[in-house]
Amino acid sequence: MLPEAPTASAQHAGVQQAEPAYAIRAEGLCKSFGLISAVHEVNLSVKGETIHGLIGPNGAGKTTVFNLLTKTLLPTKGRIFFHGRDITTLSPADVARLGIVRSFQISALFPHMTVRDNLRIALQRRAGLATQFWLPMRSLNRLDDRADELIATVGLGKFAERQAVELPYGRKRALELATTFALDPAVMLLDEPMAGLAHEDIEPIGSLIKTMAAGRTVVMIEHNLNVVARICDRISVLQRGEIIAEGSYDAVSADPQVRLAYMGNEDDE
Ligand SMILES: Nc1ncnc2c1ncn2[C@@H]1O[C@H](COP(=O)(O)OP(=O)(O)O)[C@@H](O)[C@H]1O
Ligand SMILES: [Mg+2]
Repeated sequence: MLPEAPTASAQHAGVQQAEPAYAIRAEGLCKSFGLISAVHEVNLSVKGETIHGLIGPNGAGKTTVFNLLTKTLLPTKGRIFFHGRDITTLSPADVARLGIVRSFQISALFPHMTVRDNLRIALQRRAGLATQFWLPMRSLNRLDDRADELIATVGLGKFAERQAVELPYGRKRALELATTFALDPAVMLLDEPMAGLAHEDIEPIGSLIKTMAAGRTVVMIEHNLNVVARICDRISVLQRGEIIAEGSYDAVSADPQVRLAYMGNEDDE
């Protein structure tokens, strides 16, 4: 199933300018699964064109917050705004069209296609060209040029003609990020982008995320606190479904409640 092609900028979405500072705002967000209150009264304000970290122990509700933002789940209570526009009741497809896009997983790559072809497919999705049988040569050339630019951005030059399945894991992650980036999202949601990476891949992938974040908004769930400290502008800490702290890395990491939450959950790191 092909995801919807999003538009790049807030302008295309007919967005109101009432809250230009915040790309995403959640107010009193709640999600219960039966008796489990996974997300409870979460207020989250993500400034446009920043990298916002969402951290917290396993089971804190981080992925559920992402599912609420992408409308994969409906909130039990609360509202979600995109540049001031209430998107609480929009469909997942409409939210994707606004440019709020969650990163694809490595498992969503086409394993036996080349790196370049994986990117061309992602770009076709964006252009909404996937359903067209015939394309003028000019648009195909444009796609190829853009695919090559993306390949250069993510440092996959020498892998361009290799099948995705042949790539080392860190390079697969770079390709996965590139296929998301190809959609030119306004807001990129990354759920544990460092998970499973070898030590030597962590810094380059962190730098890649920072590069991709230029001119757009990134919300990133991440357990690797060194990465969070290095690239996140602001951090929200979730514990048992509630935000317990928010601010710069230095402020948040000095917060006694955060220290207690992390010390009480040493197994998570
Ligand atoms: N679809 C679901 N059905 C039932 N419980 C769920 C579902 N998704 C998440 N949960 C529960 O909600 C809580 C938060 O989960 P999650 O958002 O995945 O946490 P995190 O991403 O911070 O590790 C956990 O207790 C989890 O078991
Ligand atoms: Mg999770």
